[in-house]
Amino acid sequence: MITPGRALDHPEAFILENTRLQSSPLVPEIQLHLADEMLPLWKLTEAELDASGLPPPWWAFAWAGGQALARHILDHPELVRGARVLDFATGSGIVAIAAMKAGAMSARANDIDPMAIAATRLNAEANGVHVRVSADNLVGQPSHGWTAVLAGDICYEQPLAGEVETWLKSLAGDALVLMGDPGRTYLPKTGMTRIAEYRVETTRELEDNDVRHTTVWRFEP
Ligand SMILES: C[S@@+](CC[C@H](N)C(=O)[O-])C[C@H]1O[C@@H](n2cnc3c(N)ncnc32)[C@H](O)[C@@H]1O
Repeated sequence: MITPGRALDHPEAFILENTRLQSSPLVPEIQLHLADEMLPLWKLTEAELDASGLPPPWWAFAWAGGQALARHILDHPELVRGARVLDFATGSGIVAIAAMKAGAMSARANDIDPMAIAATRLNAEANGVHVRVSADNLVGQPSHGWTAVLAGDICYEQPLAGEVETWLKSLAGDALVLMGDPGRTYLPKTGMTRIAEYRVETTRELEDNDVRHTTVWRFEP
């Protein structure tokens, strides 16, 4: 059992002790430090941080949207080859890692959760790729020169989804903007083109089904 305060003071140690290196069925070429179950880890994180009402440990799972987007990029490397990539709301870092494996010039993995930042560092290292990380809230900011902006599974709550929709639409004039989404409640209704579909295996603990039909969308310029 880990010692109290470990998650905040030593996030990497917390992650290594509470996950195992594994890959998701759809993206076998990427290894990630993932948890097998959500609830025990969530409770442990809250106990560790001495806080309640924390968001779930998103970083400990490869979500259907991120898996589909990573698969699509690995199978279509021309989409990101030589690109300056932003992986917005990176979680485990799966999409940023896929982009680097596919030949991106650089990938910045962004997430406001410090545990996601630590997990992404560990996961990038496990896959032998260099990913830059940042924990700023980028929503609404002008482009930092990204030529591809990727976002996996971000339409699960408001006001985040609405703010991100407006922001991603504003970036789509100058960059390729792709989103992976398994039909979440706040998916934008307009301004996107469906470019691929995947069947993503998941668990009943995380989702309401064993399989999520997941779409990769391109935001229209
Ligand atoms: C469902 S997870 C998806 C993670 C990953 N993209 C995937 O598909 O596996 C959503 C992520 O969004 C992050 N997030 C929420 N609000 C954010 C914001 N304003 N900026 C950056 N990341 C944010 C959360 O911390 C979480 O890691």
